[in-house]
Amino acid sequence: MDKRAIIEAAENFAKEELATDSSGHDWWHIYRVTKSAEKIAQMEGANEFICALAALLHDLADEKLIGTGNEAAGIAKIKQWLLHHGVTVDDMEHVIEIIGAMSFKGGNRSAMRTLEGKVVQDADRLDALGAVGIARTFAYSGAKGQLSHDPTLAPRENMTAEEYRMGKSTAINHFYEKLLKLKDLMNTDYAKELAAERHQFMVGFLTQFYAEWEGEK
Ligand code: ADP
Ligand code: NI
Repeated sequence: MDKRAIIEAAENFAKEELATDSSGHDWWHIYRVTKSAEKIAQMEGANEFICALAALLHDLADEKLIGTGNEAAGIAKIKQWLLHHGVTVDDMEHVIEIIGAMSFKGGNRSAMRTLEGKVVQDADRLDALGAVGIARTFAYSGAKGQLSHDPTLAPRENMTAEEYRMGKSTAINHFYEKLLKLKDLMNTDYAKELAAERHQFMVGFLTQFYAEWEGEK
């Protein structure tokens, strides 16, 4: 199979596997991450085929999708899929290394060895930022039954699992916990530029949000 056909087949594989997902890792997240990964790869001179393939498959072994403890089985399935679709052993190993680093608990914080890994990790993190990131955060919060905002709670950078269960987090708090920290975690120069823009957009959003809350605007 040529590379184009492999990418197309990977799109269909991801769509099928994610069709029943309700954890925020839907097909359109994959679509956006793949588009960003391709763009960053062009700008950074990374291998676009590897970046697109890893982006398309990056969530298929995620514990949130397939359950904690099932990541290894998820990885094995992707490996078989890649070999069956004529991806070379070298490329398969590279893609699996990237997906593995992104899938396991805490994997999102682990350092990526290759440029292509850095690109895909950046693309995934960018999807939590900007207008799309804000939308995902409020959607996630609503699905979990959290409030959008509670001005009696001071912004907190670290919430425990117990505090989450007790409803002490809000969509707005997620900005302090995660979103506003992401720009400093970008690997590549081009992603840093995109993250800086999206970061500013979120800061502006928060300023407007608080002003509206108090009837000031
Ligand atoms: P990923 O695996 O893509 O890093 P997560 O599963 O952590 O993402 O989150 C999916 C989306 O939901 C992201 O946009 C993230 O910012 C948002 N999200 C995650 N945890 C929370 C939370 N506690 N409150 C609000 N939004 C959240
Ligand atoms: Ni993702």
